[in-house]
Amino acid sequence: MAFATRPFVRFSSAAAAAKKLVVKHVAVIGGGLMGAGIAQIAAATGHTVILVDQSDEILNKSKKGIEDSLKKLTKKKFADKPEAGAEFIEKTLKNLTTSTDPVSVVHSTDLVVEAIVENLAVKNELFKTLDKFAPEHTIFASNTSSLPITEIANATTRQDRFGGLHFFNPVPLMKLVEVIKTPMTSQKTFESLMDFSKALGKNPVSCKDTPGFIVNRLLVPYLMEAVRLFERGDAAKEDIDVAMKLGAGYPMGPFELLDYVGLDTSKYIIDGWHLLEPDNPLFAPSPLLDKLVEEKKLGKKTGEGFYKYK
Ligand SMILES: NC(=O)c1ccc[n+]([C@@H]2O[C@H](COP(=O)([O-])OP(=O)(O)OC[C@H]3O[C@@H](n4cnc5c(N)ncnc54)[C@H](O)[C@@H]3O)[C@@H](O)[C@H]2O)c1
Repeated sequence: MAFATRPFVRFSSAAAAAKKLVVKHVAVIGGGLMGAGIAQIAAATGHTVILVDQSDEILNKSKKGIEDSLKKLTKKKFADKPEAGAEFIEKTLKNLTTSTDPVSVVHSTDLVVEAIVENLAVKNELFKTLDKFAPEHTIFASNTSSLPITEIANATTRQDRFGGLHFFNPVPLMKLVEVIKTPMTSQKTFESLMDFSKALGKNPVSCKDTPGFIVNRLLVPYLMEAVRLFERGDAAKEDIDVAMKLGAGYPMGPFELLDYVGLDTSKYIIDGWHLLEPDNPLFAPSPLLDKLVEEKKLGKKTGEGFYKYK
């Protein structure tokens, strides 16, 4: 694999501090829903990407998903030029390799983007190991939705080269990236992450390391308020959905969105925030949401949530 045999260049900390990093070589750890999307857009925009997951079986599934997504996107984008579309897919896939061993690939990366399971101990363990093997100039970023970036960065000795890159699902289509700066993130790291996000064709916004960053901090309490409105019997869920679509111009109603995101994911986020701020009524758990999760009615993915599917 050409990527793995590239010479390993160790930057001095003075050199690393002097220049904003132009990211060319990226390792994406976690080839699930988010990681596969991040790897896809990074490869499509000319970066060399290694996608890492725990087994070849998972990685084959990720690669198949990426190929299918590229085909769908190029069909639209290159509707009149199918040859240019085929060339674009070929070029993108050439930029993408896979591995099951993050330690053996991290030495040749400028940026590591982590999109593994949402568990602080597992993320800490991964970054602690990678910190020992990654070159000094390499920036680490986490795509976590709900964990403090500072607590993930604290597993490493490079808190100044650590930030959040919060992408949105589906990654190839959603234009936003939240770039998270902790009190330890250097300005150069922050600017490098902003530039990288722009190079991906995204629109980055910045936020401090606070629960939910911007979008989820506003969105999750709104969704929970919708559930509470329904729980009190003030309005039917169907009417609340229609009201927010036609009255506020939202593309989906709150119950449709909750079912799309997954009720377990929403519960996980609100429970975490409730632990942090037990007196904040916006972060209060909902008995109805808890009941649906307990009954494994998690939304679209299980065929039933607030609504039934199929
Ligand atoms: N799903 C969303 O809408 C969304 C949006 C923004 C951010 N996020 C965040 O992105 C991250 C990933 O979420 P997802 O929805 O893609 O999850 P997912 O379950 O689809 O994928 C996670 C992948 O990580 C792999 N993995 C787990 N531990 C690993 C390890 N130690 N080394 C290598 N690979 C490992 C798993 O095998 C799996 O393929 C989470 O932190 C989540 O909070 C999710």
